[in-house]
Amino acid sequence: MEQEQVNSIAQIEAAPTLEALEEMRVKALGKSGWVTAQLKSLGGMSDEERKAQGPIIHAIRTTVTTAIENRKAALEDAALEAKLAAETIDLSLPAPEQPRGTIHPVSQVMDELAEIFADMGFSVATGPEIEDDWHNFTALNMPESHPARAMHDTFYFPDKDAEGRDMLLRTHTSPVQIRSMISQGAPLRIIAPGRVYRSDSDATHTPMFHQVEGLVIDKGIHLGHLKWTLETFLKAFFEREDIVLRLRPSYFPFTEPSVEVDVGFKLEGGRRVLGGSGDAPGHGWMELLGSGMVNRKVIEYGGLDPDEWQGFAFGVGVDRLAMLKYGMDDLRAFFDGDVRWLQHYGFSPLDVPTLSAGVGAVA
Ligand code: DAH
Repeated sequence: MEQEQVNSIAQIEAAPTLEALEEMRVKALGKSGWVTAQLKSLGGMSDEERKAQGPIIHAIRTTVTTAIENRKAALEDAALEAKLAAETIDLSLPAPEQPRGTIHPVSQVMDELAEIFADMGFSVATGPEIEDDWHNFTALNMPESHPARAMHDTFYFPDKDAEGRDMLLRTHTSPVQIRSMISQGAPLRIIAPGRVYRSDSDATHTPMFHQVEGLVIDKGIHLGHLKWTLETFLKAFFEREDIVLRLRPSYFPFTEPSVEVDVGFKLEGGRRVLGGSGDAPGHGWMELLGSGMVNRKVIEYGGLDPDEWQGFAFGVGVDRLAMLKYGMDDLRAFFDGDVRWLQHYGFSPLDVPTLSAGVGAVA
């Protein structure tokens, strides 16, 4: 009996698996187990014998039960340790090498614009690239016979829409002015970045390019608000305080008066660098964008009363802004999809423009 206990305990302590341990438990404590048999044998003993054997047999049962419990806990711990060890990640390993995409400069500049104008209370509005001629022209004070329509080199679709309007690829982002006034009413502060299309192609023109439209409608708006807004925007965008603007009288059907905005630059190593007055020696003026006070007729087309509401608008080429800021010289390369160009001029996805960290991160 003594020997049986010693063997059994040794086996339990050496049980290699939980399954093997369970087998041993059955052999000792199961219905026909040897400990159970000893417990049963107490019934056939004399009082005397039972008094002597009882405590011994119960002690054996306790010893065996405890040994099984300990071994079970040890085996479970070992299993957990093995699982944790197998799932370990070595954080000191280098990140796997994989092809990295970049953010296109146009996307980056659009994010920069949204960030800068959000700070001035503008929200981002959008409109369809497949437009009708009412939104693209008529409501912007370009009636059918207007010569400006011919100047836009418009791509037309062969079919009219359900209302009999000619359909086209929008030639500018200005129709978003009309759509925003109609859907949101006044007051209004929006920018509308997006793709526009004209049948035109050379080193500085592509059939598809990007513009951003700006529109403010409120009470008592005047040219001073326009100039301040553009100055504030351009200073933030080019990250320099010495941006100087020149407003020249111009003409657009949708603004009255209209102003063309030039920005001062100087030549540095054959490159045009923005900053300073264009009138200073060695400096010049570069035409940058079109703008003006929203024409009364356009405010009416937008469903608002021009005696109550006034506003200013502007439109500027996003690709051109990107070229000026990041120093590319061929617009066509923007849309070639050449991976080498994108690697060189693209931005890291983590390089999110913020006003606090700077919107002018270097590519
Ligand atoms: N839509 C004009 C264009 O594509 C740009 C423009 C000029 C937009 C003056 C405006 C503006 O909002 O006021 O050439």
